[in-house]
Amino acid sequence: MLDIQKIRADFPILSQTVNGKPLVYFDNGATSQKPQIVIDAIEKYYQEINANIHRGVHTLSQLATDAYEVSRGKVQQHINAKFAHEVLFTSGTTHGINLVTNGFASILKPGDEIIVSSLEHHSNIVPWQMLCEKTGATLRVIPINEDGELILDAFDELLSEKTKVVTLNHISNALGIINPIKYIIEKAHAVGAAVLIDGAQAVPHLKPDVQDLDCDFYAFSGHKMCGPTGTGILYGKEEWLNKLPPYQGGGEMIKEVTFEKTTYADLPHKFEAGTPNIAGGIVLGTAIDYLNNIGFENIQKYENELLEYATKRLLEIEGLRIYGTGKNKASVVSFNIDGIHPYDIGSIIDKLGIAVRTGHHCAQPIMSFFCIPGTIRASFSFYNTKEEIDVMVEAVKKAQTMLS
Ligand code: ALA
Repeated sequence: MLDIQKIRADFPILSQTVNGKPLVYFDNGATSQKPQIVIDAIEKYYQEINANIHRGVHTLSQLATDAYEVSRGKVQQHINAKFAHEVLFTSGTTHGINLVTNGFASILKPGDEIIVSSLEHHSNIVPWQMLCEKTGATLRVIPINEDGELILDAFDELLSEKTKVVTLNHISNALGIINPIKYIIEKAHAVGAAVLIDGAQAVPHLKPDVQDLDCDFYAFSGHKMCGPTGTGILYGKEEWLNKLPPYQGGGEMIKEVTFEKTTYADLPHKFEAGTPNIAGGIVLGTAIDYLNNIGFENIQKYENELLEYATKRLLEIEGLRIYGTGKNKASVVSFNIDGIHPYDIGSIIDKLGIAVRTGHHCAQPIMSFFCIPGTIRASFSFYNTKEEIDVMVEAVKKAQTMLS
């Protein structure tokens, strides 16, 4: 059992009022809040060891380098990567995906196919479309059913020897559906395709095991898992990271530079040009420790309770429809109320201190599928409570009365 009040005390922002009301923060899908230990670690880094990494023989530079590499090791352990050099620091999921699509520009040819799912965030659609434009490859899309689940028979039919990459999210940001990625990875590998998983919405809720999944790439952001913004990780299998060309050229990613020819550094540095977000990278390790201390099993169990409770309470509202009714879901409820624009509900409940995301959630194809402009998305974290869900339900009812 989690002591939620104790956990809430770790997050200073949660005791704030917004618009004169106690903050109810249900926009965790956009970004999570930060515990004091993470906030303190950022300050401590700048107060005590701030220096550039991998560059100086001086003591501070070595302390900063060590802390950065310790954090890489924590991520490696957390996701069960085989080697630390398979863990690349990025600025976030979008950076990780673009690093991979950029690399595939020198591999794909006209006639090759890339399969994405209908549930993708724009950040896992647009880079692949740009790649298709560059290479002449074709994008194929796995359709969804009315419950927001991928249609696996259709996926099986899309697969062929032309398929070079399959990419999809582990959990849909807009609907919360958890995708059967293990099945998809296995099928994709059977035709020789590489698989990239967008884990941005998964890592706050579960601990991915990249060796067990056997994915080729797994990208995620630090800021959705209690870490700082501007941090992220791209896991890539060693063989793929060796095969892909560097994404950015610059300092730290080279072995030797002459005007005739430059040779590149070994992994992971080949993909880490320039001065990174050093504080962020180090503190991502602090955030991962914090979450592991709470325990992902506890987090999942509690968040499932919140999901069940919110689903039940919201469905008491007449005219309310939930999108994403599949069985396997993370703690996200995306909904609309008949005849009311989601933005209007979002604006009214914001005045009551409740933060939800409204709109297309950077997933316009999902909204087109359901023929809606957007939804109201309440995304829950382990620091939320059923009492907060009650507050939201009452606020939504009030907004409905005001707007009808
Ligand atoms: N991708 C983030 C979300 O779903 C920003 O809200």
